Amino acid sequence: LFAGQTEFLKGVVAMDGMPPANRLEVCFAGRSNVGKSTLINALTGRKALARASNTPGRTQEINFFTAGDSHYLVDLPGYGFAKAPVKTVEKWQKLLKAYLSGRATLRRAFVLIDSRHGVKDVDEEIMTLLDSSAVTFQVVLTKADKVKEAEREKNLAQVRQRIARHPAAFPEMIVTSSEKGWGIDTLRAVIATLV
Ligand code: GTP
Ligand code: MG
Repeated sequence: LFAGQTEFLKGVVAMDGMPPANRLEVCFAGRSNVGKSTLINALTGRKALARASNTPGRTQEINFFTAGDSHYLVDLPGYGFAKAPVKTVEKWQKLLKAYLSGRATLRRAFVLIDSRHGVKDVDEEIMTLLDSSAVTFQVVLTKADKVKEAEREKNLAQVRQRIARHPAAFPEMIVTSSEKGWGIDTLRAVIATLV
């Protein structure tokens, strides 16, 4: 599935710019700076396919990646970025909502949660939106290399507890580190069963 070269297709800022829904897709959602773009790079084995950055709010469009015509990987704009202007945030939220509720070919949303921080209120909001859009979501813990094992376990328990309340949540979580390559094969295998 990831053997072929994955390429950037297009960045979308409005629903009418969406590429045709003619193949299956999965998307990556999460707070700004959680590691979405870096994870897509790790999955596809491309260093700078999705632009990763230290500056939160780097990805402001819905970015579509594709390998041939087999499937789309979709990098969503990060949410919960405090410094973004209100108007910008409102625009993102509207687009995100429209995308999540209106994309018939979307098979699963991966909700990325920082291993150090666990589930925040803004994550709850996106999970609730996914519930109401009937989009199954699966939590991917990121940056696992940045926490000690005891803390990781504690935060995992918190996440498990929080997602239990969401009807659209897939119960299994995937612990990853794009830096160390942990969990990347597992996530690839999950995506392969979906698209
Ligand atoms: P936005 O586009 O702003 O929503 O951010 P994003 O979620 O795409 O985050 P991005 O991939 O740009 O990563 C943010 C920062 O976290 C970068 O400096 C990455 O190098 C770093 N980072 C991402 N994944 C990991 C990881 O697994 N381990 C470590 N140590 N750092 C990581
Ligand atoms: Mg990004």
